Amino acid sequence: MNLLGKSFLKLLDFTPEEIEYLIDFAAKLKAEKKSGTKRKLCEGKNIALIFEKTSTRTRCSFEVAAYDLGMNVTYLDPTGSQMGKKESIADTARVLGGIYDAIEYRGFSQETVEALAKYSGVPVYNGLTDEFHPTQILADFLTIKEQFGYLKGINFVYMGDARFNMGNSLMVGCAKMGLNFTACAPEKYFPDKALIDKCQEIAKETGATLKFETDPKKAVENADVIYTDVWVSMGEPTDVWKERIDELLPYQVNDTLMSYAKNTTVFMHCLPAFHNLETTVGKEVGEKYGLDALEVTDSVFESEKSIVFKEAENRMHTIKAVIAATLA
Ligand code: CP
Ligand code: NVA
Repeated sequence: MNLLGKSFLKLLDFTPEEIEYLIDFAAKLKAEKKSGTKRKLCEGKNIALIFEKTSTRTRCSFEVAAYDLGMNVTYLDPTGSQMGKKESIADTARVLGGIYDAIEYRGFSQETVEALAKYSGVPVYNGLTDEFHPTQILADFLTIKEQFGYLKGINFVYMGDARFNMGNSLMVGCAKMGLNFTACAPEKYFPDKALIDKCQEIAKETGATLKFETDPKKAVENADVIYTDVWVSMGEPTDVWKERIDELLPYQVNDTLMSYAKNTTVFMHCLPAFHNLETTVGKEVGEKYGLDALEVTDSVFESEKSIVFKEAENRMHTIKAVIAATLA
């Protein structure tokens, strides 16, 4: 498998074999790290991490992965560079491409991360855009593989706003890797038709199925994994909370919903999650609308079915695999 020099911008750019390779390589790197084996596969290389939106997992995963691989890191925060404000994406890309061996970008438009890759001449990694969050899917699929032993044929149900980065990327990932994907929400929250059509084509090749369901009970009956994400994503206006709560509350992952599923069904979430009122935003929104949790209840989040912290740890191992596979 040769991914040297390749950017990681969206899963649509990768074959099922390449995705499987990255997941299995991550499992290997994880086992090596746990056993104390150190392999500085990218010794002396330099990576720039550009974050136009905030992050805990993605930033820390890129930093620790890079350090473990023997690399040096520069972090550019949402206000810390000229990019976009005083310097175009194309110019920034050419500057950074001359200084760094790789670039990570988190921000708004997919076009920006694609342009960075086009003009920089070095591998660029998508750390989340409005459209896609591909490194998250690698971590999710590694976690599912650890839990169930396989990916093909897993019944994967995504509850909530399926037309943003997580719903889009999970649908593509499931189509590529042969999982049975169901998006469950009111129809307006289903992914864009053009992306669904693309995924249906991929699914024909891989044996995946794609379903779009408005009834939560029906959606989860046979689910192996129930996944959700926040109802309002980074960069969206806060005044959409009311509408989202009105429309998505029936799709909250709570004990009743979990009771419709199987004993073996697990709960996943990319995090951060509003499962209680112990955050500024959670408290403000929860109190305003009289709710003690938003997309997932505390009882599900804290239950044995929840594998969200394994999933979060796997961000680091899978990001390390992407960096090492494309740079070493
Ligand atoms: N899941 C995820 O991308 O988390 P952060 O926003 O903390 O990076
Ligand atoms: N949909 C969320 C994902 C966070 C990891 C957001 O974009 O804010």
